[in-house]
Order: sequence, then structure tokens, then C-alpha cells
Amino acid sequence: MRLGLNIDHIATLREARKIHEPDPLEAVFIAKNVGVDLITLHLREDRRHIHEDDLRSVIKHAPMPINVECAIDPQITKIICNLRPFKVTLVPEKRAEITTEGGLNLEHPQLLPTIQTYLEHGIEAALFIDPGLENLERARALGVRVVELHTGRFSNLFNSLHSNFKHHKNRLDFPQEPSSLKALLDESLQELEQSALAGEKMGLEMCAGHGLNYFSVGLVARIRALQELNIGHAIMSRAILVGLERAITDMQEAIRRAR
Ligand code: PXP
Repeated sequence: MRLGLNIDHIATLREARKIHEPDPLEAVFIAKNVGVDLITLHLREDRRHIHEDDLRSVIKHAPMPINVECAIDPQITKIICNLRPFKVTLVPEKRAEITTEGGLNLEHPQLLPTIQTYLEHGIEAALFIDPGLENLERARALGVRVVELHTGRFSNLFNSLHSNFKHHKNRLDFPQEPSSLKALLDESLQELEQSALAGEKMGLEMCAGHGLNYFSVGLVARIRALQELNIGHAIMSRAILVGLERAITDMQEAIRRAR
């Protein structure tokens, strides 16, 4: 199973000071040294972390494939087609959101032409979708070869059940009783597993990500039909305390143990 390291938060830290460090490119070389398979960056419309310059330097110098997450937007499409990363993952984007909420709207009128533009430029096009058979069938009908399942709901349920998150001011509005939470978590994990299997049977390459951490990753990594996990926040949070190399290798180990 591949680990795609999302390095957005290196740029989030830099933007807190609006200076030139830390540089996301330095993280790419550390990641390479410990065998990270893929680097993921999100070029947001509001440029809150990654900027075009970051994309340009990472795509030019990284020794491994680059996956750019982005919204359906003609200006972004133009920038990315010029830079030609290995893969683009189309995600929904709302200006006010803290992070990507929910999967892509597969009925978006510009989705098909955007996918075709990337494919014509030799860039792999992936769709970030909510689990479910209907979404998989729609994705396949749109002509993509790769989809990424949104693990956000699973992750939020996991944290609500298994951590002190439920006591935190940022807690989410889920049922409080552990048995109800557990039932929802099981259901959400099952939905991920069934979707991964169904997608694999349809000939799609199945990836997953969002909100996974060192405790929850094993349950998802165990799903054999998944070939790639994209993880950022948990690794960068740990990296601040123990260093990036250790944070990455701890996550690689957690994934390896589950497979
Ligand atoms: N996959 C996609 C499509 C995302 O948008 C994100 C967040 O940018 C991630 C994975 C990684 O999520 P997290 O930072 O919560 O690990």
C-alpha cells in the first residue's frame, strides 16, 4: 500500500508568518529518504497554504510522483496542466471550510470537461468521492481510472468514540452514547470496505484519505482493495513534536502492521 504524504501544513506554518520558511520542498527530500511513495499538495483557490511557486518547485525537484488536489476551476486547471504533475485529485472546495468537507459533486457540469482536459495533458485524474456504489458507477462513467474514498466521516466517528475529542470544544454533533457511536463507526467502516471492493471489481484504482491518524489508520489500511492512503494532518502534527522522519516512519509502520 502506498503512502501519499500531504505536505500542505508545512506551508500553513510558513503562511502563519508570511515568510519563506519552512519550505515544503525540504519535506519532500526527508520523505524521499524514508521511502514515501507519493507527495500530495492541495492548491486551494484562496492559497491559504500551498502557492503556485510551491507546486512548481515540488513538481520540478521531487524524485517521486506528485498528486495535486484541487477544485474544478478553469484557472487552476490551466496552472496544473502547465506544470504536469503525475496525478490530479479533484475535490470540492468551499471558501469558508477548515478542510475538505464531503466528496465531490459528481453532477457538476464542468466535471467531465475538466477530467478530459487533464487526461489529454497526460495527467492521471482522480475523483475524491463519498463511499457508495452510485458514486463509484458515476465516477467510472466519467472516464476516470482512479478514485479516492473520503474517510472523513469514519475518522470523525473514530475520534468521537476512541479519544478525548468528545470532551473538546471542537467536538462534533454525534450521538453521545458509545453504543450508538460504535454502530455508526462500524457502518461507516463497512461502507468504506464495500466501496473499495466494488470499485476494485469495476477496474478502478482505489485510494482513500482524510482525517486518518495513528490510531485509526489500521482499520482502513486493513482493507485489501485499497492501494493508497493520503495522510497529512496527523503526520505533520506529530512531526512538530518528534520530527518529520520519525512521524512518517511511525505512520508507515502502523500501515504495515495492518496489512
Ligand atoms: N485526501 C484528500 C482528497 C484531501 O483533501 C486531504 C486533505 O487535504 C487529505 C487526503 C488528507 O487529509 P488529512 O490532512 O486530514 O490527513
